[in-house]
Amino acid sequence: MIGSGVAGLTAALRAQALGLHVLVITKAAVEDGNTRWAQGGVAVVLAEEHDLDDSVAKHAEDTFTAGAGLVDEAAARSILDGGPAAVARLRADGATFDSAGDGLLARTREGGHSAFRVIHAGGDATGAEVERALVAQAGQARVPVLEHHIAVDALRTPGGRVAGVTVLDRNGVPGVVRAPAVLLASGGIGQLYQATSNPEIATGDGLALALRAGATVADIEFVQFHPTVLYTPGARGRCPLVTEAVRGEGATLVDGAGQPVMAGVHPLGDLAPRDVVSAAITRRMGLAPGGVDDHVFLDATGIAGFAQRFPTVFAACAALGLDPASDPIPVTPAAHFSCGGVVTTVDGRSSVPGLYAAGEVARTGLHGANRLASNSLLEGLVVGQRVAEAVAADLAAGLLADPSRGRLPSWTTAPAASRDSLQRVMSRYAAIGRDADGLAAAVSVLDLSAQDSPLWTHAAVEDAALTVVAQALLAAAVRRTESRGCHVRTDFPSLDDGWRRSQLIRLSPSGQP
Ligand code: SIN
Repeated sequence: MIGSGVAGLTAALRAQALGLHVLVITKAAVEDGNTRWAQGGVAVVLAEEHDLDDSVAKHAEDTFTAGAGLVDEAAARSILDGGPAAVARLRADGATFDSAGDGLLARTREGGHSAFRVIHAGGDATGAEVERALVAQAGQARVPVLEHHIAVDALRTPGGRVAGVTVLDRNGVPGVVRAPAVLLASGGIGQLYQATSNPEIATGDGLALALRAGATVADIEFVQFHPTVLYTPGARGRCPLVTEAVRGEGATLVDGAGQPVMAGVHPLGDLAPRDVVSAAITRRMGLAPGGVDDHVFLDATGIAGFAQRFPTVFAACAALGLDPASDPIPVTPAAHFSCGGVVTTVDGRSSVPGLYAAGEVARTGLHGANRLASNSLLEGLVVGQRVAEAVAADLAAGLLADPSRGRLPSWTTAPAASRDSLQRVMSRYAAIGRDADGLAAAVSVLDLSAQDSPLWTHAAVEDAALTVVAQALLAAAVRRTESRGCHVRTDFPSLDDGWRRSQLIRLSPSGQP
């Protein structure tokens, strides 16, 4: 397993319980993934806990609507149907969710949800609790974890099956891990952009490894920008999230003049799907008197007990000298989630035998062109479990490689652009609001600045990953001449029914997407 977030650890625990030999490889410490930063919660309809007027079918309808025509409906139904059992398992394994005080779980609402169905932990620290519980379980079950090792490339057999990976330790010492199955659970790509809710580890390494191993990826032009990270002037890198649940509990977005941002934009107002809210904020910032503004405000002053309900957001605000009880919170959109990724089935099988993917790195079809809030922890829990079962079944059916037949990858170098210039061009030309000229400029800046670099250090592997993922994303964004979900083209502002399809991308033998 590459990655130790919700999908990787869920898969590792299940695989070990099925009697498979497991090794979790993670490039940082075991708990350092993206999962622990998730705030809002887990979207799930629990029959025994939730109102009778909600249902998995309604959750699915909201997912389809948010996904703007590109959700694979059968895949989404399958994953959402698996939600209640996955959450029950997690709770049985020690995760504690907030209680409503009446014996039921507390529930909140986020953008695009027609019902209060998002369960949460520690107020706004859901990811931290999910990760804590899984790390504790993995420790108890003695799941072997190789920390501070980055996976570089896949070993392949002459027949094209994946048979392990090459790795580098934190000093750049190379190693080889042979295995009949490799699961990518390596998270997202937020570090393509200057401002992101993602931690520094989110550099798309798994996606790059999959592309170089010949896997098909899809929907990677759909990068979800979270509408509200805490704004600090000139912020770079990970920006503290202001969970959408703050709007779920009644906060509203206003501009510098105190005018509501979402009035008249969408019937769900401040709780419109995320792509709609982020685009509306971006438009409003562009309309600021005297030029372009770089933030709006979230007015949460009407929420009683803010510090108790949202301790993480409260602490981040307090660090800036703000008290959400009296001060509007300055917020801005930032890169948050990759809706696309390695194309997989709902049980994590990719197009390459022996290579599996789960969590943010995968594209099961659940998210389409815009993920519904809080569907991702759920997807990691459900597909993480299923992928372990898929590997066990494929092994038993003799479909996987003899690891000793795996050949070392032919890629010893890969093109890598400077991270700083890559993040600058992606933020400027491939964020919210793209057009043909800007995308072409980004493509040429990347082509000109990318130098063939030996994959000898963690930073070099990450830079090469960011570069190939950026190239694939730009190629898909150039071709998609419409606006849909998170892909907003200012030169093609409308939805085009001819584009109601995913773009499948693979690398050519010369390494071009
Ligand atoms: C949030 O709490 O707003 C983020 C949750 C998510 O991205 O699903």
